Amino acid sequence: MAAMAVSPPLLLLLLFLLLVFLSSASLQGSNLRVFEDSEPKATIPPTTFFEVTRPISVPDSTPCSALLLQHDFAQTYGKPPVTAAYSFPSHCPRNAPSKIVLEWSAASRGRQFDRIFGVWLSGVELLRSCTAEPRLNGILWTVRKDVTRYASLFAHPATLAVYLGNLVDSTYTGVYHVNVSLHFYFDGYGSSPAPSRRSPLPGFHSPADLILPISRSLPLNDGLWFLIQNSTDVQSMRVSIPSNTYRAVLELFVSFHSDDEFWYTNPPNDYISENNITGLPGNGPFREVVVSLDGSVIGAVWPFPVIYTGGINPLLWRPITGIGSFDLPSYDIEVTPFLGKILDGKPHEFGFQVTDALDVWFVDANLHLWLDGKNDHVLGELIEYKAPDLEHSYSSKFKGLDGSFKKKASRELSATGWVNSSYGKITTRFFQNLEYENMMVYDGNGSVQVINQTIGSNFGTFAKYPSSNLYSEQVLQTFPLYIYTATTDQVNGSYSLVANVSRGFNEKKFSGERHGLLFSSLRNLQDSQGEMRVKGNLVTSGIGSTQQVYRYESSGGCYFRNVSSSNYTILNDESGDSCAGSSLFGSKNFFTQFLPFSTRRASLRGVEKGG
Ligand SMILES: *[C@@H]1O[C@H](CO)[C@@H](O)[C@H](O)[C@H]1NC(C)=O
Ligand SMILES: *[C@@H]1O[C@H](CO)[C@@H](O)[C@H](O)[C@H]1NC(C)=O
Ligand SMILES: *[C@@H]1O[C@H](CO)[C@@H](O)[C@H](O)[C@H]1NC(C)=O
Ligand SMILES: *[C@@H]1O[C@H](CO)[C@@H](O)[C@H](O)[C@H]1NC(C)=O
Ligand SMILES: *[C@@H]1O[C@H](CO)[C@@H](O)[C@H](O)[C@H]1NC(C)=O
Ligand SMILES: *[C@@H]1O[C@H](CO)[C@@H](O)[C@H](O)[C@H]1NC(C)=O
Ligand SMILES: *[C@@H]1O[C@H](CO)[C@@H](O)[C@H](O)[C@H]1NC(C)=O
Ligand SMILES: *[C@@H]1O[C@H](CO)[C@@H](O)[C@H](O)[C@H]1NC(C)=O
Ligand SMILES: *[C@@H]1O[C@H](CO)[C@@H](O)[C@H](O)[C@H]1NC(C)=O
Ligand SMILES: *[C@@H]1O[C@H](CO)[C@@H](O)[C@H](O)[C@H]1NC(C)=O
Repeated sequence: MAAMAVSPPLLLLLLFLLLVFLSSASLQGSNLRVFEDSEPKATIPPTTFFEVTRPISVPDSTPCSALLLQHDFAQTYGKPPVTAAYSFPSHCPRNAPSKIVLEWSAASRGRQFDRIFGVWLSGVELLRSCTAEPRLNGILWTVRKDVTRYASLFAHPATLAVYLGNLVDSTYTGVYHVNVSLHFYFDGYGSSPAPSRRSPLPGFHSPADLILPISRSLPLNDGLWFLIQNSTDVQSMRVSIPSNTYRAVLELFVSFHSDDEFWYTNPPNDYISENNITGLPGNGPFREVVVSLDGSVIGAVWPFPVIYTGGINPLLWRPITGIGSFDLPSYDIEVTPFLGKILDGKPHEFGFQVTDALDVWFVDANLHLWLDGKNDHVLGELIEYKAPDLEHSYSSKFKGLDGSFKKKASRELSATGWVNSSYGKITTRFFQNLEYENMMVYDGNGSVQVINQTIGSNFGTFAKYPSSNLYSEQVLQTFPLYIYTATTDQVNGSYSLVANVSRGFNEKKFSGERHGLLFSSLRNLQDSQGEMRVKGNLVTSGIGSTQQVYRYESSGGCYFRNVSSSNYTILNDESGDSCAGSSLFGSKNFFTQFLPFSTRRASLRGVEKGG
């Protein structure tokens, strides 16, 4: 039996596919839910689930708040998104808010799978997230996201759309009761006049003046995301931008489901074919989302491996959920060097592809634009562009179902262009250096799978006037991932699974402009261990434990949290916001960690001299 031969994640996917077939359940959900055989007990309070993240820093004032939408998501799969008319709350001050926070709060009770969902305003995606899986005694969770970068959207009437494809029947009883709210924070007492439309400095630290959606338009019986189903599938949209745009940044949202939900564990096709395994997702463990403009690659995203709340072993994510699962990261690509090609007022095509994709990826984007308030026409020209093909290698050594596989990949991209607006002539360079390595081992006749993967991204933007620097930003990210799974006791579609998962979202950011230097360092590490017994798509028994250490240090403040849980219970929880003992401030070598930064800046100077 093929299912006996494969590793647990593949087996889980197979079970999931079976489930989809049987119940036509959401393609967006994960594969397992947890069975609780006891009746709900009135004495047991609902469990509060949470993702470990730092609190949003807001002004010390009472926000002006508005409930945008209240809805019970029951039979919503394959139905139009739930919409609500939005306008700037009339009881709020009319001046510009200094911080805007989106709040998703939800409650559910019963049994349900995890469901992916999205929140859009005027087609611009504000939040991509995954629901928590309910318990019989009920669950609660809240997601707060800083949405200040979308400030221009909130000033005007718009349509809010939320798609959360849920199915409810006599077995899957969990209805998601949801409130979506906005909180506007103002500096002082709301008496200061709104800032003039044109600030004296170009907008490298301020929110965009206009945000255009690159997503599907309503009416739809789905989310507004594009669906990418295979490696040749290109989803695209033609967009014309105002000809007074002097800066553009594309913000990409991605999530992966069904055959590619665990893409980083997918075995190579030669392993699948030589072992005659059928009906299982392959294409190996490497994926990249490639963004093109009029057919030329302008950037790539090697996503963080978000594991949804039903993934691998659902007991691992209760109540501490997986990194990024309640607020999926979005990814920025600086488009400014390419503006010269698209300032002609005509439509230009933004395209998305996923290398080696299997069905299905949900991808859409927001195009953030900064406009020149004085000139109707901005001029620009691309003066340097290098986007060599992806470099990759693959080696394997296997006999039957056991063996080892190594996949490596790297990509480099850089572009430099100038833009001449009423702010003067600004030359902007954008670069990306991406690296990937995945080692996969199968053992125990295919019953044990070990994944050790690292994604490294180094990207940045440098902007300068002919004779002085204007702005620079560099981001270094590493996403280590280790997964160990062992399947035993497979009888009649039941099996036991032992799983260890360790992940990290590590990021260093450095940015500088006339206002000064900003830097931050985040190390967010999560280790989980669990075992469970599974029957069909039900977890019938088991236990999960998670330990997480979140350490954020920055020029604007610090945050630390060390929390762990086991079997739904928090074992220890320590947090603080002291910067004392911060390695950043103690280290004289901090800036030398950004060596590529100075190298890149030097090469920008080189370009300027030459051009
Ligand atoms: C390995 O698994 C395959 C497929 O289930 C089975 O046919 C084979 O006998 C197993 N080999 C060993 C050594 O257990
Ligand atoms: C949603 O808002 C209503 C009214 O303010 C409140 O009664 C309810 O508890 C809220 N639900 C959640 C899940 O926050
Ligand atoms: C890839 O997906 C597209 C869009 O669904 C489809 O039209 C095309 O036939 C698919 N190609 C292959 C090779 O499956
Ligand atoms: C796979 O199928 C081919 C053709 O039916 C057969 O020759 C080969 O022995 C099979 N391999 C395995 C590992 O079962
Ligand atoms: C830039 O624009 C200014 C006017 O806004 C003009 O005087 C100048 O010649 C332009 N420079 C270039 C290189 O186009
Ligand atoms: C993963 O591989 C790296 C080297 O690429 C190694 O340093 C690390 O220890 C490995 N992690 C585990 C958990 O095996
Ligand atoms: C497997 O399932 C079948 C049908 O449900 C049942 O008759 C059989 O006893 C089961 N075998 C085991 C070992 O549980
Ligand atoms: C899995 O985690 C447990 C608990 O930390 C540990 O004892 C065990 O060695 C780990 N196994 C592997 C293969 O990583
Ligand atoms: C986190 O807390 C646990 C339990 O108190 C402790 O053993 C561990 O050393 C702490 N880790 C860090 C990085 O502080
Ligand atoms: C988990 O906790 C429940 C009570 O909340 C208890 O009945 C169960 O035995 C615990 N499981 C393990 C494996 O400790």
